[in-house]
Amino acid sequence: MKIIGKTSIGTDLEVTKEFLVQGQLVAIPTETVYGLAANALNEDAVLEIFKAKNRPHFNPLIIHLPDWESVKTYVRNIPSEAEILAKAFSPGPITFLLEKKISNPNEGVNHHPSSPIPDLVTAGSPKVAVRMPAHTLTRQLLKMLDFPLAAPSANPFGYVSPTTAQHVLEGLAGKIPYILEGGPCQIGLESTIVDFDNQQVIIRRKGGVAVEAIEAVLGKKVLVQTGVEEHPVAPGQLKSHYATATPLYLMDGVSFPTGYSPETACVIAFGNNMDGIMAKFRFQLSAEADVDEAAKQLFATMRAADNCGAKMILVKALPEEGLGQAINDRLRRAVFEP
Ligand code: TXA
Ligand code: MG
Repeated sequence: MKIIGKTSIGTDLEVTKEFLVQGQLVAIPTETVYGLAANALNEDAVLEIFKAKNRPHFNPLIIHLPDWESVKTYVRNIPSEAEILAKAFSPGPITFLLEKKISNPNEGVNHHPSSPIPDLVTAGSPKVAVRMPAHTLTRQLLKMLDFPLAAPSANPFGYVSPTTAQHVLEGLAGKIPYILEGGPCQIGLESTIVDFDNQQVIIRRKGGVAVEAIEAVLGKKVLVQTGVEEHPVAPGQLKSHYATATPLYLMDGVSFPTGYSPETACVIAFGNNMDGIMAKFRFQLSAEADVDEAAKQLFATMRAADNCGAKMILVKALPEEGLGQAINDRLRRAVFEP
């Protein structure tokens, strides 16, 4: 076990469980990004997530469960499309927005219907976001617990999501007692968020499962209405997300941003040619232009570019298909806004 300040990194599931049972926070590996986890049924523990991340309370959290059976204990009126998608993609990088189950309509405060999932987790929405992660270690952990884990990405609010335990440490050292080490994330992009409304399937965030893959399984087109992260269920608007400290620009292939100089700009490329760029300022998402590889490398590459000493980061969007759509979404939201 590695201990840095007040934060330890290790692979001990019993230790992880003990912290979580006590209401403390632990960073956990998933196939998408590392999550900052707490017992989703313990409102005080969940509150610590918002504090550690510096995250606004109107931005709701995803709860994580080991399997579809356990999901059914917390939600109701599950649409048939959700069943189909869960069968096809879970465990995996997909999140379902489903109606919270009401435990006893007469039990709640002032006889308001009550759910075991605190309003803080869902920002007051009648729907809860649920996901079954595919990472072996975290699946084992979830099976050991008798509560779901609420977990946003384990980064300070607004910064690039972490895909290694080291990234988590860079952002949250001293703020959490334990990071469960699970190696680099295999997908590298957050889950695709799927909502259901009047027979309609709606993608709310593009992510690790491509829109085309969802449409292929359902045999029909879906609506894409993204922006849950900029316009969460509750009022309020979030500005830049996934932002590097170094200004990042998406290139149109013609003009350069004001202040551009070849001596001080670094480039993140996707199989493109980087002639004329200094070696220390070259970052390649995938030499073979493989989009899955690019997704997996994206956040680590953005962090490396942010720390290379360059004054600006230049990136070109990927072809707008498959995971390229989700990658471009993250890049657009990382673009520098003066
Ligand atoms: O892959 C992932 O989804 C990762 C790993 C850790 O599971 N988690 C993640 O969480 O990306 P986070 O908090 O960074 O993003 C979750 C997004 C938020 O932008 C939030 O607005 C949306 O999901 N969300 C959560 N609960 C919701 C709800 N009840 N209604 C609408 N949107 C919701
Ligand atoms: Mg996040």
